[in-house]
Amino acid sequence: MTRLFLYYFLALVLKCCVSEDWCYQSQMSCEQPCKGPVVWNEVNESCGGNRQSPINIVSKKTVQSSSLTEFRFTGYNEIFTSRLKNTGQTVSLDIPLGASVSGGNLSQTYNAVQLQFHWGNSGSPGSEHTIDGEQYPMELHIVHIKDTYISVEEALSDPKGQASLGFFFEESETENKEYSAFIEALAQVQDAESQADVLISLNNLILQQSKLKAYYRYEGSQTTPGCSESVIWTVFMQPIPLSKDQLAVFSSLKFKDGNPMVDNFRPVQPRKGRVVYRSNSGTTVAMINFTLVWLCVSTALSSYQIY
Ligand SMILES: *[C@@H]1O[C@H](CO)[C@@H](O)[C@H](O)[C@H]1NC(C)=O
Ligand SMILES: *[C@@H]1O[C@H](CO)[C@@H](O)[C@H](O)[C@H]1NC(C)=O
Ligand SMILES: *[C@@H]1O[C@H](CO)[C@@H](O)[C@H](O)[C@H]1NC(C)=O
Repeated sequence: MTRLFLYYFLALVLKCCVSEDWCYQSQMSCEQPCKGPVVWNEVNESCGGNRQSPINIVSKKTVQSSSLTEFRFTGYNEIFTSRLKNTGQTVSLDIPLGASVSGGNLSQTYNAVQLQFHWGNSGSPGSEHTIDGEQYPMELHIVHIKDTYISVEEALSDPKGQASLGFFFEESETENKEYSAFIEALAQVQDAESQADVLISLNNLILQQSKLKAYYRYEGSQTTPGCSESVIWTVFMQPIPLSKDQLAVFSSLKFKDGNPMVDNFRPVQPRKGRVVYRSNSGTTVAMINFTLVWLCVSTALSSYQIY
C-alpha cells in the first residue's frame, strides 16, 4: 500500500517536472512548472534557430525596397461563420477557405488559414514585434499558407511556406465598432479549451487598404513552439485603434490554470544579421511629414523677411 502510494507520488512529480508543456513567462510559477520562452529550444530546437520571430525593428536600419508593392486582399470582405477558440495560450479563429493575399512581393497567392492575438494586461505593452523598442498593447497575426498547400503542417518545411501579417493596436478614445461582434464573442470563450461561433469578415479586423501600404518585411518564424522557420513576415506600420475597455476584454480570458490570460507574447529574438525591408510608402509618409515641416519653416522665414 505504502509502496503504491510512493509510486503514485513519484509519477506525479515526474509528470510535472519533465512536462513538455511550453508556457509564457506570465504563466510560470512554483506550483506549475512549465517551459518558459527562455527554454523553448528544449521543446523544439528550431526555437533556438537563426531566423526567429518576433524581433525588434530598428526603423533607421531598415532598407527601403520598391518591390514591396501593395497587397491584394481577396475574400477579406466575405462574412463567414467560424470557430473562435480559447487555446489556453491565446484566442484563435479558424478561417475557412476563401480568403487570400497576393502582391506585396509574395511569389504566389497565400490562403488565410488562422488568426490569433498577443496582448499585455488591459492595454499595457503586449505586442510581439516592437518598433525602435516600443511595444504596442496588442498584435494580431493572420497566418496564410501557399495556396499549393492543404495544411499548415505541409508549409512548415518550406522556408517561405507561410506569409503572416502582423497588425499592431493602439489605445483610442472611442470604441472601434468594427470589433464589437468579435469582442462580444470573447465573453463566450473565457475558459481554456472553450469555443464559440462568430460571424465576421476579415475586413472587420484590419484597417482599410489605403492604410496598409506602409509595412516592414523580413524572414522569420512562428512565434510559438515549434518555432518553425517558414514564415515571411509583414508587419504593418499603422496601428488599429481599440478603446481601453475593448483592450481590457482580452485580459478577461483565462489560462488553463484559471489565472487571467495576460502578457501572452514571446520576447523579441536576436536579428542575427537579417535585413528588415520597408515599403516605399513607409518612406513617403515620413517625407510628406518632412515636407510639411520644411513648408512651415520657410513660410515662417518669408514672413519674417517681410517685416
Ligand atoms: C522580393 O522577392 C524576391 C523573389 O522572391 C526576393 O529575391 C527579394 O529578396 C524580395 N525583396 C524583398 C524586399 O523582400
Ligand atoms: C520541431 O519542429 C519541426 C518543424 O518546424 C518538426 O518537423 C519537428 O518534428 C519538431 N520537433 C519536435 C521534437 O517536436
Ligand atoms: C510626423 O511628425 C510628427 C512630429 O515629428 C510625428 O509625431 C509623427 O509620428 C509623424 N508622422 C508620421 C506618419 O511619420
